[in-house]
Amino acid sequence: MYFCARIKKSHKKNNTMASNRTFTMIKPDAVKNGHIGAILNQITAAGFKIVAMKYTKLSAGKAGEFYAVHSERPFYGELVGFMSSGPIVAAILEKDNAVEDFRTLIGATNPAEAAEGTIRANYATNIGENAVHGSDSNENAAIEGSFHFAGVEVFA
Ligand code: CMP
Repeated sequence: MYFCARIKKSHKKNNTMASNRTFTMIKPDAVKNGHIGAILNQITAAGFKIVAMKYTKLSAGKAGEFYAVHSERPFYGELVGFMSSGPIVAAILEKDNAVEDFRTLIGATNPAEAAEGTIRANYATNIGENAVHGSDSNENAAIEGSFHFAGVEVFA
């Protein structure tokens, strides 16, 4: 998985090609606050098709692997603790220009800066507990989707 972390870093500025899939998680704060249904409604109403989905809980180890690219950041421990604190919904979404359109739909990382009507503006708690994750590149969307789903769990 360290290999994946390095790939995630190196492809961050290389998202020039449109893709039709992205990866998301509804995070423990939004699950705990009862927002799964509303968030999934907003996602599908925006034209995304769910091609894989599971209700699951990350161990601290798996959360640490998923966010290994942030391991040097001061908030890494907090992030891993939060992401393994309760159940999440993980999903792969399909739509033209999926990565970019989904990041527009969810809004800025910090909900205080997220545009009105975005998922984070509607449901996030704070920058650390920000309701949803969205892949930041086509390459990371593929890596993150494969982290959570086997090929047989994806239905096009
Ligand atoms: P996400 O898009 O899932 O990817 C990395 C996460 O790190 C991000 O959402 C935030 O939840 C978290 N994060 C980013 N910046 C900070 C910060 N300054 N303090 C705490 N958490 C942060």
